[in-house]
Amino acid sequence: DKAGHKHFMAKEIAEQPTVIGEALSHYVHDAGIDLPQTLDFAALDRIVMVACGTAFYACLTAKYWFEQLAGLPVEVDIASEFRYREPPIGPNTLAVFVSQSGETADTLAALRYCAEKAQIAAVTNVETSSIARESDVNLPIHAGAEIGVASTKAFTCQLTVLVLMALKAAHARGRIDDATLAARLAELRNLPGRLNLALGQAPQIAAAARAVAEAEDVLFLGRGQMYPLAMEGALKLKEISYIHAEGYASGELKHGPIALIDQTVPVIVMAPHDHLFDKTVSNMQEVMARGGQVLLITDSEGAKTASDGTWRTLVMPDCPALFEPILYALPAQLLAYHAAIAKGTDVDQPRNLAKSVTVE
Ligand code: M6R
Repeated sequence: DKAGHKHFMAKEIAEQPTVIGEALSHYVHDAGIDLPQTLDFAALDRIVMVACGTAFYACLTAKYWFEQLAGLPVEVDIASEFRYREPPIGPNTLAVFVSQSGETADTLAALRYCAEKAQIAAVTNVETSSIARESDVNLPIHAGAEIGVASTKAFTCQLTVLVLMALKAAHARGRIDDATLAARLAELRNLPGRLNLALGQAPQIAAAARAVAEAEDVLFLGRGQMYPLAMEGALKLKEISYIHAEGYASGELKHGPIALIDQTVPVIVMAPHDHLFDKTVSNMQEVMARGGQVLLITDSEGAKTASDGTWRTLVMPDCPALFEPILYALPAQLLAYHAAIAKGTDVDQPRNLAKSVTVE
């Protein structure tokens, strides 16, 4: 049931404020985060995170959170690489497997490789799935069934559960006190409201997407915790609109991809006004100096200081920095969705793709 939407993907994008609220209500109580007692973050030396596709980008985002908030070293890998690499897994390692379906063959194989070597945590959307069942600790994301092949609400619910894990780890390791944790949780409770405001920007995003749909190649740029989201935005666009897109760290631009820039290549810059903003803006200016068309996705402060000379600027609601990757996932999804609509592709069943990849 598409609940009045044209596609499951549109419905699933629109559901995000609600399902993220749901996920929060399962894990957040009063001023604390309820996670299974057996997850002892204070005793950990390191975290290894393994996934495929969009779930991999959720892990890459979480690396920034675990490292910055909890001071925990994190290694993130694609399951198909990890499983054959024979990576050493020391004691005091938590191995986290993120998978919407819980059935992705490579992710399951990577989990089995880690079994008996490390504590295994699963972050999945299907509580009866193989990955959930074979883990020591199962953390459901509570996104509800996701039908569209392009993962949307599962991604933001994965991020929500992962940021809660990172906050819990920071608290358990004495890096944040009770008051700081309570303040972050209060901000998280406001996140669904901010996501609704972002959804309200859909008409402007759709207009930009129609222009992007005319391009053959698109670059997405981001820095810091927005870098994985740049890659996720590119994946979403190529999956459903079949437009070639790449996500890069802004700072990598001059190490190669800037050679691609001309007036036919839209460059989508995901940059809220954070501590790295000025650096991203100078990368953006390098693009504009070469005739590149910049679509800047930022907040009110960012738009005030940096929209001069951009092709378009989309203004997202203001948001505490920590949660911006969740908020900025929405314009990335909507851009891909509306570009696909403009191209007339099969949004929910893109060619050559399956919802669940249960073979290698
Ligand atoms: O079910 P999983 O989360 O393990 O699936 C992983 C990938 O196959 C999946 O995220 C894929 O990249 C999506 N089509 C992305 O939209």
